[in-house]
Amino acid sequence: MDKALTLLGIESSCDDTAAAVVRLTPEGRAEVLANVVAGQAALHEAYGGVVPEIAARAHVEKLDTSVAEALRRAGLALADLDGVAVTSGPGLIGGVLAGVMLARGLAAGADLPLHGINHLAGHALTPRLTGDIAFPYLLLLVSGGHCQFLIVHGPDRFDRLGGTIDDAPGEAFDKVAKLLALPQPGGPAVEAEARQGDAARFPLPRPLLDRPGCDMSFSGLKTAVLRTRDQLVAAHGGLRRQDRADLCAGFQRAVADVLAQKARRAIAAYLELAPKAPAIAVAGGVAANGEIRAALEEVANTQGLAFVAPPLKLCTDNAAMIAWAAIERLRAGIPDDPADLTARPRWPLDRSRPALIGSGKKGAKA
Ligand code: KG4
Ligand code: ZN
Repeated sequence: MDKALTLLGIESSCDDTAAAVVRLTPEGRAEVLANVVAGQAALHEAYGGVVPEIAARAHVEKLDTSVAEALRRAGLALADLDGVAVTSGPGLIGGVLAGVMLARGLAAGADLPLHGINHLAGHALTPRLTGDIAFPYLLLLVSGGHCQFLIVHGPDRFDRLGGTIDDAPGEAFDKVAKLLALPQPGGPAVEAEARQGDAARFPLPRPLLDRPGCDMSFSGLKTAVLRTRDQLVAAHGGLRRQDRADLCAGFQRAVADVLAQKARRAIAAYLELAPKAPAIAVAGGVAANGEIRAALEEVANTQGLAFVAPPLKLCTDNAAMIAWAAIERLRAGIPDDPADLTARPRWPLDRSRPALIGSGKKGAKA
């Protein structure tokens, strides 16, 4: 490529309103010129999950100012861009529609090409925005809304090896925190408690480990925490400090065990492709968890894979990954499909596999 490619990205599929400007230099270097994320956590806190209608309204209010802020931080005007990329699914449909409508208006007004991007493809391609990682690589996307193992073959070719059939792990962390009267988001709170706890005290289940394949389930684990809590409360008239810490430690260990064991299976399937530089990348908010990260890193090391974890602010929902996914497609010469601009709640990356069942607090799983 002899000319720089500069894209505006827009993301509004869940509870973060995001706009970003990403540039690919003629030398092939990726630069994030601006990355604006306006979260909505406070608006949804009282409801224990994302309320789609509240999310959509908040996106409508914040989208245009987020785009203006991204352009200001990048020091660019619309006329300096080579295109606009917008998340057109999967996600909560009101928010996706708000983003697509704004992007359509901006692109038409500034006479720019418009690219509809799959949100999951954005997550899946992020390791190449921040590091030197070659196709094909294995990705574990593990957040409040997603949990899947993907082989990433190219910008538009993904093989889903398995995913959660109910809750995503982050969602389970949040629910467990709520059960134990810990603050939200639950992940960091449970992790802090777990440091004081004995992970071996309560025998919590490792769902679906007895079944072949890479599908996962975290909802039963959460129910087991609820039952154990109720037994402890009945026995002692309340939850003692050490009981809570032990429950957190046991829960976290169970999630780490399930992810590590399923990662071993995913790696075995991936290595059948005989990749030249085998690598596993993790993305999503739950990848911030020290025990889970260490468990995955150990699996990667023992299987001879490089372990790649992009910086957290690009792993959680953002628009830089959306702009980057469009750049990857342009660079590879993949033509746009006009249907990709249709806002849709479900949009599995791997169309050869049936959609994952289940819909958690952050919307459809794929
Ligand atoms: O990727 P993310 O920011 O957002 C979406 O899912 O959209 O992930 C947020 C999730 C929350 O459920 C949060 O509890 C979880 O990631 N999380 C963690 C940790 N930090 C954040 N889970 C476990 N341990 C952590 N340290
Ligand atoms: Zn996401």
